Amino acid sequence: MTSPTFDGRSRSEAFEDSQDIGINDSPNPTISEVVRQRYGRRDVLKGLLAGSAAGIALGSGLPLAASAAAQNSPRASTGGFTFTEISHGVDGRHHVAPGYDADILIRWGDPVTSDAPAFNVRAQSAAAQAKQFGYNNDFIGYMPLPLGSRNSDRGLLFVNHEYTSEEVMFPGIGRQDSKDKLFKDMTRPLVEIEMAAHGASIIEVQKNADGKWSLVGGSPYARRIDALSSVCEITGPAAGHARLKTKADPSGRRVIGMLNNCAGGLTPWGTVLTAEENFHGYFGGKLEAGHPEERNHKRYEVPGNWYNWGQYYDRFDVAKEPNEANRFGWMVEVDPYDPRSVPKKRTALGRFKHEGAAVVLNSDGRVVLYSGDDERFEYVYKFVTAKRFNPNDRRANLNLLDEGTLYVARYNADGSADWLPLVHGQGPLTAANGFNSQADILIETRRAADLLGATKMDRPEDIEAHPANGRVYVMLTNNTRRKADQVDAANPRASNEWGQVVEMQVSNGDHAGAKCQWTLLLQAGNPADPRVAGKFHPATSKNGWFACPDNAAIDPQGRLWITTDQGEAWEKASGTADGVWAVETEGPNRGLSKMFFRVPVGAEMCGPCFTPDGKTLFVAVQHPATDGGEKFTKSGKGSTFEDPATRWPDFLPDMPPRPSVVVITKTDGGLIGS
Ligand code: FEO
Ligand code: CA
Ligand code: CA
Ligand code: CA
Repeated sequence: MTSPTFDGRSRSEAFEDSQDIGINDSPNPTISEVVRQRYGRRDVLKGLLAGSAAGIALGSGLPLAASAAAQNSPRASTGGFTFTEISHGVDGRHHVAPGYDADILIRWGDPVTSDAPAFNVRAQSAAAQAKQFGYNNDFIGYMPLPLGSRNSDRGLLFVNHEYTSEEVMFPGIGRQDSKDKLFKDMTRPLVEIEMAAHGASIIEVQKNADGKWSLVGGSPYARRIDALSSVCEITGPAAGHARLKTKADPSGRRVIGMLNNCAGGLTPWGTVLTAEENFHGYFGGKLEAGHPEERNHKRYEVPGNWYNWGQYYDRFDVAKEPNEANRFGWMVEVDPYDPRSVPKKRTALGRFKHEGAAVVLNSDGRVVLYSGDDERFEYVYKFVTAKRFNPNDRRANLNLLDEGTLYVARYNADGSADWLPLVHGQGPLTAANGFNSQADILIETRRAADLLGATKMDRPEDIEAHPANGRVYVMLTNNTRRKADQVDAANPRASNEWGQVVEMQVSNGDHAGAKCQWTLLLQAGNPADPRVAGKFHPATSKNGWFACPDNAAIDPQGRLWITTDQGEAWEKASGTADGVWAVETEGPNRGLSKMFFRVPVGAEMCGPCFTPDGKTLFVAVQHPATDGGEKFTKSGKGSTFEDPATRWPDFLPDMPPRPSVVVITKTDGGLIGS
């Protein structure tokens, strides 16, 4: 392996730093430059929260509720969060608003399949892990049972497992990627446990008579997908291309595993989209000089050397298998209702560090999918299917995502945005620039987007599309590398540690068009600190503002919920642990935010997911103890198996922290947030 990249930080901390460095050296404008051009110094201060993209663009000044009503939506946002908010803070436990219950549903190591052995943290094996709940849960999707119903008391949960944290998973080894260790204790059995702890879990859950949720034992749907042995199919325009062929797979259509699955989304036909994000980190070795994949690998930072899997599996060593990395970085579609279904990597949606997927049914029946590329200076994309959704024939929809057009966003200073098609033969996307086919464009999506002049964003994380009112919310998490010479009076955050939320607006339910409008919903960070210049509604309390938006969900009432991931910088960014905030998007309270839930120290908050009745909220507590927990360990150093910042959620003396799904219900059985 080449030199380590971590040195004393947790893996998630190093992920953050890597994403923060950014490698996009194209001359395209950044979103900060566009914001500066769009709003004058004073305009940006008064304009941010003044109205929706549509309102600003039309100069109408209409209250947002009016514009939403004009969409004739049965699910127009109503706002009006009435819960009592909790306070900023940090400790070893989780906290929820008064009048709500927040219970542990499933933890790392709990049985998923009916033949799974009981969890023994000191005698773990890959075979056991492959049947148990994986590590670092991120996306959660709830799918009612039976298929096609809106049952909110029984359904399937799809939960992904983004990555692993060896220092709190395995006894006695501590951090393995530092200079002094260089993965030296990462034996093949431990590597295989890591591989088995990646991927996703599908579980069946039900709400019992007492209002509490539990797993359904022996469910025929229960299933693990992992990176050790689960076969995935590569589909769409790049499937079978020479650049996707390997020694183990001369077809270029069959790959073991999915990697670093972060956020995701659900389709109208009852499948899950799960996004492969930081796939580069799993590759090691050194590509031979002058190799044809050199430019491609560099644009995606392959090899990242975050794991030593290449020591035991040739396919993760780029010297031995240069094409394997091209088989990751895709959006994966899984049909949880068919336990025998093969996960499909949909190449038509492009290859980048996909954070998530926001799927919306377009007014003309086509399906539109938004996805961000989470790295400093990367882009926002959308995909429009060629064919229409068929509400009467599920099978007709199962390969809809193999055919369509991929676009990348350019945000203009006048409040409009252009969607630039990534189509072979159009504009610069030709053989002269190394794109010999659509497959080349999809494999090297970033470089194609560079050539089109897409706007460089501040790390696009999750995107959520309102199903009815034409709004789309893009979480831009932070951007600490903005240089001083990019700062001006209108764009005062030289080092954007806090992020912002872009709101796009389409007209007449047409998400497929070449243009839309955009504005900023809010600018995260402390509004009371002039150095930070956070922009929330003025009535937002000292606990209501947040930093580093990451995941989001729109509840069945059409209201926006945002969760945060500040990484190790939480103390500096906000002083509070991450959590869930409810954010008003309508009317006079637009931009008003309230804190609803808080994670234990060192965790990030992922996976907000509501049941169709809005009475249950599932959230994923990812990597408890590992991010900036030094003040909570006995040693004052980073968490280890023996000395973690918290032993949440079990608090047993010999049990390390365990990433877990938490289920939140209102004690009186009412709507979440009401
Ligand atoms: Fe896996 Fe960008 O968060
Ligand atoms: Ca994320
Ligand atoms: Ca989401
Ligand atoms: Ca993040």
